[in-house]
Amino acid sequence: MNRLDWSSSRGKSLRGSVQVPGDKSVSHRALMLAAIAEGTSHIRGFLEGEDTRATAAVLAQLGVRIDTPSAGERVIHGMGLHGLRASSGPLDCGNAGTGMRLLTGLLAGQAFDSRLVGDDSLSKRPMRRVTDPLASMGARIDTRDGLPPLHVHGGQSLGGICYALPVASAQVKSALLLAGLYANGETEVIEPHPTRDYTERMLAAFGWPISFSPGRARISGGHSLRATDVDVPADFSSAAFFLVGASIVPGSELRLPAIGLNPRRTGLLQALRLMGADITIENPRESGGEPVGDILVRHAPLHGVDLPESLVPDMIDEFPVLFIAAAMASGATVIRGAAELRVKESDRIATMATGLRALGVEMAETPDGAIIHGGRLGGGTVQSHLDHRIAMSFAVAGLVADAPVTIHDCRHVATSFPGFLDLANGCGFALQPAA
Ligand code: S3P
Repeated sequence: MNRLDWSSSRGKSLRGSVQVPGDKSVSHRALMLAAIAEGTSHIRGFLEGEDTRATAAVLAQLGVRIDTPSAGERVIHGMGLHGLRASSGPLDCGNAGTGMRLLTGLLAGQAFDSRLVGDDSLSKRPMRRVTDPLASMGARIDTRDGLPPLHVHGGQSLGGICYALPVASAQVKSALLLAGLYANGETEVIEPHPTRDYTERMLAAFGWPISFSPGRARISGGHSLRATDVDVPADFSSAAFFLVGASIVPGSELRLPAIGLNPRRTGLLQALRLMGADITIENPRESGGEPVGDILVRHAPLHGVDLPESLVPDMIDEFPVLFIAAAMASGATVIRGAAELRVKESDRIATMATGLRALGVEMAETPDGAIIHGGRLGGGTVQSHLDHRIAMSFAVAGLVADAPVTIHDCRHVATSFPGFLDLANGCGFALQPAA
């Protein structure tokens, strides 16, 4: 694939309304549960990103018929719990950690073997966090020293376990719950800190008996899923780039309609408010069992904070853009308890540190966080390291940098946010492919 570089320069104030695409986490789960449900499910607001399309393609390889009546819509003809069929070729999850980890749980309980592969970034991401507990359930999964590709052996008899997660991870929790659908007895997952509960909510919506509360979920095998329509809310993690952009560009006033506001996702709202941001939620309501609302964000001077560690799991995907907010805030921002950032699509602490230093920011890395001394951003060249959120975060930096910011290799932005460039330019960014 050709490299795609971007140049981001000072634009105008960010104004108007930006409709960000559907939620990635919800889109992955809706596909998977609908695929093994009885009957036909209709998904609206589906994220047309490369990650979620990769999951749809994997399910099609496993025999599921998926129609696309229009962009953002999928009609899934469910095969029932035991209706998936072996694929003749490897199942390519692309860049998607969520896709690969959740599918591993789903495939561990099938009668047939599967091979899961991913791109260069995904091939470096740790998989033992799912394969070890799945092995205690009776699954047989081969890895390459804990990394993809994964060979999931079929025909294993799974038994439920009670598993206390060593790290807060919705992906691991979800993989175990999906395997638990096929297990004898009860599967219980206990988290060190509550994480996004979309799998639990959606299992309940598809009619599977489940008991869950923040930090704990329990199901037993032997039931079935009933086809259900899913309305996917707009992705808070995609809105995050505009929340920070409008906060740091003077004169901005931006509205982000119908954003998913699940409390396990909105830690960045609290973090930005602690830093002095002016953000209001309008029309709070429920859609498809999820809290949603319109977000209004206006420019406000930001100051550094000692970020409460308890917020970390609720904003785990928003740190790259928080680092940009911190670089523009007066004083120091201290982040701790975020070692998980080192095993995302890139090592997000190291990648952001190198990039911010290239833009003249003083930033110290720690094993589980960073100390960022804010004030101003200069221009320069940064690398995305094949990480969509790093690329978009530095696009936000370019809005306020003294000179243009060139970002190398932005093609992965389409994994989670197709159309970012046009939406961004439509509200005041000056972002273009670099020569
Ligand atoms: C996700 C969980 C988080 C998050 C990822 C999506 C999910 O990962 O970073 O983007 O959909 O379950 P971890 O479970 O590794 O924390």
